[in-house]
Amino acid sequence: MVDRCICMNSTFQALIATAREHGLGLEGLIEQTGCGERCALCLPFIREALATGRTAFDDDEAQALFAETRASDAQRSGVTRQAD
Ligand code: FES
Repeated sequence: MVDRCICMNSTFQALIATAREHGLGLEGLIEQTGCGERCALCLPFIREALATGRTAFDDDEAQALFAETRASDAQRSGVTRQAD
């Protein structure tokens, strides 16, 4: 189960509450809490939490979010995978 930024020991539930209380988006939340500034592994989860309000993710959901993030990052950087 993934439910927090490990580096800052902040739950996604607490982060969403902070975002709502202060009207913060992703960048503002990162700036205010420090979450996402160290290893950045929590960023896909924070994005998802901000978009959907979900604050806990099982292992399969976590793997899917990482895969989506990798695909999105590759697409933005223009990297494409060649079929064999
Ligand atoms: S887990 Fe959030 S910055 Fe490392």
